[in-house]
Amino acid sequence: MTPVQVELVQSSFDRVAPQASQLVKTFYDEVFRIAPQLRHIFPADMGEQRTKLIHTLTYAVNGLKFPHSIIPVVQALGVQHRDYDVDPAQYEVVGAALLHALEVTSGPSFTAAEREAWTACYGLLSTVMQDAAAAA
Ligand code: HEM
Repeated sequence: MTPVQVELVQSSFDRVAPQASQLVKTFYDEVFRIAPQLRHIFPADMGEQRTKLIHTLTYAVNGLKFPHSIIPVVQALGVQHRDYDVDPAQYEVVGAALLHALEVTSGPSFTAAEREAWTACYGLLSTVMQDAAAAA
């Protein structure tokens, strides 16, 4: 990610932060719309899962300026996801759902440059997670 993309991810995330619960609900609704077969691997009650995802996203977005501080945590999350049997196609579903949720929650204020920056950000996080899972 370029420094400008880091700024774009952080400023667009700040804008949607007040609607974080809406963002995460839209995200999981979209994951299960695209890939209903994934519903059963998640808990029936998604409340706690939504909260954890908001915390992790906030942590990762805030840490983008200091990647060394967040990479070990993201790697550990990747290893944990290997235990959930997550495969690369599922990472694509989750990436598409995240972009959709950001777009819907931000509304027209979400720019093409922000979309591109989030695509780079998700690509980075999901690559670090998958590489760590493969190496573990
Ligand atoms: C960058 C991508 C991702 C991030 C940041 C992320 C984040 C998280 C977090 C923070 C948790 C909670 C971990 C805990 O309980 O300590 C979690 C759990 C989980 N994630 Fe992900 N995740 C990602 C990708 C995926 C993908 C692609 C799948 C596949 C469908 C997936 C499926 C799951 C499942 C099944 C759980 C466990 C739910 C449970 O039983 O509690 N995640 N994820």
